[in-house]
Amino acid sequence: MCGIIGVLGDHEAAPILVDALKRLEYRGYDSAGIATVRNGQLDRRRAVGKLVNLSDLLVHQPLSGKAGIGHTRWATHGAPTEGNAHPHQAGRVAVVHNGIIENYQDLREELASHGITPQTDTDTETVALLAEHYLDQGNSPRDAAQLTLSRLDGAYALCFLFEGEEDLLIAARKGSPLAIGHGDGEMFVGSDAIALSPMTDRITYLEEGDMAVVTRTSLEIRNAENRVANRPVKTIRIDAARIDKGGHRHFMAKEIAEQPTVLADAISRYLPAGADDIVLPEAIDFTAIDRLTMVACGTAFYACNVAKYWFEQLARLPVEIDVASEFRYREPPVPKGTAALFVSQSGETADTLAALRYCAGKADRILSVVNVPESSISRESDLALPIHAGVEIGVASTKAFTCQLLVLALLALEAARQRGEITAGELQDRLEDVRALPGLLNQALTIGDPVERLSRDLAEARDILFLGRGAMYPLALEGALKLKEISYIHAEGYASGELKHGPIALVDDHVPVIVMAPRDALFEKTISNMQEVMARGGRILLVSDAKGIKSAGDGVWRTIQMPDVSAFLAPILYAIPAQLLAYHTAVAKGTDVDQPRNLAKSVTVE
Ligand code: F6R
Repeated sequence: MCGIIGVLGDHEAAPILVDALKRLEYRGYDSAGIATVRNGQLDRRRAVGKLVNLSDLLVHQPLSGKAGIGHTRWATHGAPTEGNAHPHQAGRVAVVHNGIIENYQDLREELASHGITPQTDTDTETVALLAEHYLDQGNSPRDAAQLTLSRLDGAYALCFLFEGEEDLLIAARKGSPLAIGHGDGEMFVGSDAIALSPMTDRITYLEEGDMAVVTRTSLEIRNAENRVANRPVKTIRIDAARIDKGGHRHFMAKEIAEQPTVLADAISRYLPAGADDIVLPEAIDFTAIDRLTMVACGTAFYACNVAKYWFEQLARLPVEIDVASEFRYREPPVPKGTAALFVSQSGETADTLAALRYCAGKADRILSVVNVPESSISRESDLALPIHAGVEIGVASTKAFTCQLLVLALLALEAARQRGEITAGELQDRLEDVRALPGLLNQALTIGDPVERLSRDLAEARDILFLGRGAMYPLALEGALKLKEISYIHAEGYASGELKHGPIALVDDHVPVIVMAPRDALFEKTISNMQEVMARGGRILLVSDAKGIKSAGDGVWRTIQMPDVSAFLAPILYAIPAQLLAYHTAVAKGTDVDQPRNLAKSVTVE
């Protein structure tokens, strides 16, 4: 899942390419590179590591030309070296790629039989070599690109630039998203509309199998059957100005802090002031649904885990949940009466999108809960429910998680109402709880200072366990995921009652055990589990409300006191300590909080 960009401009391309790559760095930051064509000649600059290294290189070795392509890489095939960095060039062709060419080994062997030897370990170089091979046979750039595409298996978004062609880009999409931006006498290609946002808000999204021939004054799109396809030009509203740190040290800190505001905004969309009912963009008939299948990856999957408790307990609606990478290949039956719901911040996660496509035509309704409204998952759903979290830059998802939970909680309440599982009075009480959430989140954020102090101790640990019961169990999983991804400390989340079935063997006085436990109906049972840990010398960090902390008694190592909250909404509020613990521990360890190693924000490869 890399970011790609192409420019046919009126000005020097290099600064525009680098600026656009900044907005695509969330897709990967193993290396970056650009290529331009000037006076007919292709030239390129590439640098390992973050984009800043490429910018530095360009200061000493500038690259001119008004037509160019650029790339920011998350390595799949081949180590993150300069040689493996994109753009890849073979003779008269330079190419940038997002995705995986699955048959690249076969293609390499075929090219070898023509005496053509790759210089890199990447799958992408094969694309450039093939295109050059077809040019050698006398094909035009357009035909060479088309012949090349016809040979590729796997997923790709590609953009080609050719020697001698200063007014031509060829772009193609199969499995990875790609957008064409329309300027005034300029044209752009980008992995998403955000990358193109300062240049244009007029966007054409390529569909699966499309190839686009782009010049400064024309755009011709051909579909997978090689027929001319009319794809609409949409005006996309993206507030690029919001993409800054707003005075915070990291995007993650900013995104944690803005949760009360973005949740209040999301609440106002689904529960407008004065309305007694939940307002959805379009009606969903939950009485016609017998079961819900929820599929997602990572943090979004943990949001599904929480929502399962809500849909089952409140609406008595059976829920199946799975991670998308397993779901898509296990060929599960999708009986009549199933609604399938996909949760994704980016809306581009390859496995989640593939799972959605598996369900299309089988499930009665395809629903999604997404942050990026123009994303593939959003566009391919029967009904997409936006979470209104705003642009999320930090690789570790924070505000998108709580906004996903909010929308799922409201959906579960709406399902409960329609299915007659909740009285009008109970529903209004719950909606009042929801309206009070932004205030509670504000209060919860005041734990920042104590969390920062105790995180210095957590930063010394090699392993950390998180425990939770009921709907707090997924919060334990989320707390562990957040901690490991940004602090690189090994952490696992367990259902409190599962500890004694194996993981308790890990417990000693070096392993902090973080217990996420508001004082709810299951609290006494969690106390027993805490005692089991303390009896073995384990150090308990209890995250609970005042009553919970009091009844836990002496013996706990540390506590974090949370505001009182209804058991229903506790998973949303307790996301704050999970996020802050990870954040401050990572800061104490000095890791790269916003761009942790080996990760990327949008996972568009499987
Ligand atoms: C963790 C994190 C990831 C994502 C996962 C799914 O902090 O952000 O686990 O949740 O990659 O991404 P989306 O929601 O874009 O489908």
